[in-house]
Amino acid sequence: MTVSAEYVLWGSAGHAKVLEELISAHGGRVIALFDNLEVPSALIGVPVYYGRAGFEGWAAQQRHIDRLSAAVAIGGHRGRDRIEIHALFRRHGLGLPPLIHPDASFSRTASIGAGSQVLAHALVAAEVRIGEACIINHKASVDHESTLGNGVHVAPGAILCGCVSVGDNVLIGAGAVVLPRITVGANAVVGAGAVVTRNVAAGSTVAGNPARPALNRQ
Ligand SMILES: CC(C)(COP(=O)(O)OP(=O)(O)OC[C@H]1O[C@@H](n2cnc3c(N)ncnc32)[C@H](O)[C@@H]1OP(=O)(O)O)[C@@H](O)C(=O)NCCC(=O)NCCS
Repeated sequence: MTVSAEYVLWGSAGHAKVLEELISAHGGRVIALFDNLEVPSALIGVPVYYGRAGFEGWAAQQRHIDRLSAAVAIGGHRGRDRIEIHALFRRHGLGLPPLIHPDASFSRTASIGAGSQVLAHALVAAEVRIGEACIINHKASVDHESTLGNGVHVAPGAILCGCVSVGDNVLIGAGAVVLPRITVGANAVVGAGAVVTRNVAAGSTVAGNPARPALNRQ
């Protein structure tokens, strides 16, 4: 994997710290952060710019923005936000390479979309297809021939068994298990620790073992 030497991140919280370690493991460095909230910089010595105006002001000062790469450091159930920020980065010519931690296991027959992230000790098996702006978090496992749409987050320790199909903007909660050949519809949330034995309807939230529909207040 090639990571350009200089990187910018949208999101100045914990996930930025995780991505900074991943990027520096590939020999790159983070030079700027952006956040909608006036939070302090997540990274010592790295400036943070606030909101769209802060980003546009920073971008206007870059002489070779097309030589920089970008990533979105926003986790949770916010795949749509990641996709929107990707569009903004693209309009300004920033690169969006996928990020795969050197300690992750990523099959040579798997594919991964722009700006998607595979964190340390995650496993992506044979013929898995991962869309854009996804996060395969620490120790998560996506088994053979599974397909993930765009903006999917597979949280730490979650397990997708083989041939699972996951729609856009889904959150698979930490430690959840999705059994083989299950389909999880777009925008759904699978609660932490759930065991999913049946297909999950788009937009729904399920939790428990076996997973059952739960009230979605998000
Ligand atoms: C399932 C989930 C979406 C529910 O969120 P919510 O609608 O805000 O629900 P609440 O936290 O208000 O809890 C409502 C009830 O569900 C229970 N509950 C919450 N999460 C649960 C879970 N994962 N499994 C079983 N029960 C759960 C709560 O104990 C509570 O029960 P009570 O009413 O008897 O006290 C959420 O708890 C969850 O698991 N999200 C995934 C988080 C995650 O893994 N993030 C990844 C970060 S990297």
